[in-house]
Amino acid sequence: MCKRWSISGAEPGAQSGARLMASTRSVVWITGASSGIGEALAYRYARADAALVLSSRREDELRRVASGCPGVPVSIVPLDLGRPETMVDAAERAIELAGAVDVMVHNGGLSQRASAVETVYAVDDLMMRTNYLGPVALTKALLPHMIARRRGHFVVVTSVLGRVGMPNRSSYCASKFALDGFFRALRLEVSPGGIDVTLVMPGFVRTNIAHNALTGNGRPAAADDPDIVKGMSPEACADRIFAAVSARRRDVYVGGMKEHAALLANRWAPRVLDSILQARARKK
Ligand SMILES: NC(=O)c1ccc[n+]([C@@H]2O[C@H](COP(=O)([O-])OP(=O)(O)OC[C@H]3O[C@@H](n4cnc5c(N)ncnc54)[C@H](OP(=O)(O)O)[C@@H]3O)[C@@H](O)[C@H]2O)c1
Repeated sequence: MCKRWSISGAEPGAQSGARLMASTRSVVWITGASSGIGEALAYRYARADAALVLSSRREDELRRVASGCPGVPVSIVPLDLGRPETMVDAAERAIELAGAVDVMVHNGGLSQRASAVETVYAVDDLMMRTNYLGPVALTKALLPHMIARRRGHFVVVTSVLGRVGMPNRSSYCASKFALDGFFRALRLEVSPGGIDVTLVMPGFVRTNIAHNALTGNGRPAAADDPDIVKGMSPEACADRIFAAVSARRRDVYVGGMKEHAALLANRWAPRVLDSILQARARKK
């Protein structure tokens, strides 16, 4: 790891006034760090002695996560991915607090539980802003910084549903397919300049994603999803993502056999997969 400047002696959650000094720690910025996979990633990177920048909408929850990351500098930059126009300010704030950004983990996101016909357009709009346009705006705000330093790594948490269409997830699938496409193209542009892109496709992970998912009218579903309840732990998912990023993998699938089978069937037996997904949706 090359030398760089970072905050020293900042208490977890410190936002300003920290003294700058030379450090060899990598700075890892995680969105959606207040819960689930993002929270587990914060603890995983803290154990690896990274300096952290934690972001999401709920500052109190970010402070709770920061208090679980002792011994490393933690900066908190609250942001709303649904407001892409605020991402330039957020990136400036993160660089000001942490001195640099080495790894940007685009993890924050929202899911959906409703058919396309039942979903009002405002939900499609919010889903695209939160899951796609917010991360894209943040990426564009950070790119000049990474290009100038000739180093950086975008870690993009998409989904198996960024490759496979699924009933009752049209807005979610659209936002994740878009994310996948943007970063696949960006990778080709920036890799010669020393910037990596790792696309992460989780299957079912035991988080609050189903509870927070939007119904057709934009209200949270606030209900369990049996697939998510039986899914992989966020800690195991974070370990797998950490290993994939350390190995500079391009694409990584993280989840169980069933979702892996769906990815394979999507490629080799798409009509069979369609029938299975339609039958499952009718049962639910
Ligand atoms: N769990 C799964 O089975 C699964 C499967 C595939 C992909 N994923 C992806 O994994 C990522 C993390 O989800 P999770 O499973 O950990 O769910 P989660 O527990 O609901 O966490 C979602 C995180 O995103 C943040 N977030 C939501 N809307 C935001 C906004 N407008 N601005 C900023 N932050 C926002 C939330 O924080 P605040 O509420 O504090 O803003 C929270 O920290 C998502 O991108 C999701 O699509 C999850």
